[in-house]
Amino acid sequence: MEKQKTDILTASATSANLSEGHSATTFIFTLEDSQLLSQVLQIINVAELQIQHIESRSEFGASLTMMLVVSTNGNAATGLKMQIQALTKSPVEMYSNSAKMTNGERDSAGAPPEQLDNYPETAREELQAFPNVPWFATTMQELAAHLGKTLQSGDDLDADHPSFKDEVYRARRKVFVDIAKAYKLGDPIPHVEYTEEENKTWGEVYRGLTKLYPTHACSTYNKMFPLLVKHCGFSDKKIPQMAEVSAFVQSRTGFRLRPISGLVDFRDFLAGLAFRVFNATMYIRHHSAPQYTPEPDICHELLGHVPLFLDEEVAQFSQEIGLASLGAPDEWIEKLGNLYWYTVEFGLCKDKDTGENRVYGGALLSSFGELQHCLTDKAFLRPLETEKAAATPYPITRHQDVYFVAEDFQDVRNQLAEWLIKIPRPFMLRYNAYRESVELLYKKEHLHALVRDIQTDVKTLVGTINKIR
Ligand SMILES: [Fe+2]
Repeated sequence: MEKQKTDILTASATSANLSEGHSATTFIFTLEDSQLLSQVLQIINVAELQIQHIESRSEFGASLTMMLVVSTNGNAATGLKMQIQALTKSPVEMYSNSAKMTNGERDSAGAPPEQLDNYPETAREELQAFPNVPWFATTMQELAAHLGKTLQSGDDLDADHPSFKDEVYRARRKVFVDIAKAYKLGDPIPHVEYTEEENKTWGEVYRGLTKLYPTHACSTYNKMFPLLVKHCGFSDKKIPQMAEVSAFVQSRTGFRLRPISGLVDFRDFLAGLAFRVFNATMYIRHHSAPQYTPEPDICHELLGHVPLFLDEEVAQFSQEIGLASLGAPDEWIEKLGNLYWYTVEFGLCKDKDTGENRVYGGALLSSFGELQHCLTDKAFLRPLETEKAAATPYPITRHQDVYFVAEDFQDVRNQLAEWLIKIPRPFMLRYNAYRESVELLYKKEHLHALVRDIQTDVKTLVGTINKIR
């Protein structure tokens, strides 16, 4: 019962504290005897502190639950807490709106402001309690710094690569490696002057694939693609600039593109998704084989993936895969890799409009041959089951042995969400878009924050239903 009392005021504490500006601390405590209130006020008076807000509740019995917002912070607040605790002989909850959480600023979680005595300030600090969890970036800054260190060179092409003997092409790939290595997440993406030959290769790929999309791509893809024609100049004439594409996608779903020089470590790739950062190559495949590339290139990124990153549902489940990967054990990263492969890269779904099987996977949407193959009788299709997909290894150099068909994107998202919570990790994670950082969820206080968010959503839902009526 005691806990319930303080819970009720914790929500008020959040809003009261946030509305009072800098250097305010909220104290929540229980008085068994209301006479003690005058003594609490006297302590505050003697300390020459100012009360900004006072609130009491007594619905649950004779005792009084108090919330006081006082103009103080730091050591003075801690001292005050100890004095109140000594007087009331019961625990005192304390929250502060430090400079991090200033007037009018609010985190997306609606979480209580940091507790001064035992509440770590950042996920990085909290992670010290979990030494066995693999390292992961907790903020956009950490992500940027880490990616900058782990980028592979990307210009050491294998002997069976179509360009292996083409020195000009190899030198050109080096240019893209240098761009990717010099790039810092958050900086403007550099303008690239593509050569005539590169634009010609793009044109061939573009014309070939766009002929197939109306009959092979899912309806969401076909609805999004014209937006890229309109806003980013997609055409068969020249390769679009990644900077323009990234800015447009960011304006729609918050996803941004980050130039990379070639393949990145899969854990790092997934970590980017958690922050709505999509690592994408800028170079184009060799002109001798426009219908084939052994590795991702700009055709794969811009034609295969980008149109669907404009869809909120796809953006959401892509980010959820990314969040699930943070701190996951290695063997689970492998399973997650399979799931990513059979959904985001090679996924099929039932078309909303026609009921036919259609493609939403980026690897298929950027591959002439397999895009056609997967919808023929020769392809083996089965309904999406995350458990099976996660346990199915995939071939890289030939068509897939199996394709998983989802009912729709909601089905993908629901199934992924159910599977992702099985990952053994001592916490859940969620992304705070305001702070561009992740939050660890593993304590009772975190439950309060989540419940408050749900309550807010329900209120919005009810309000919207009323508007519709
Ligand atoms: Fe891809």
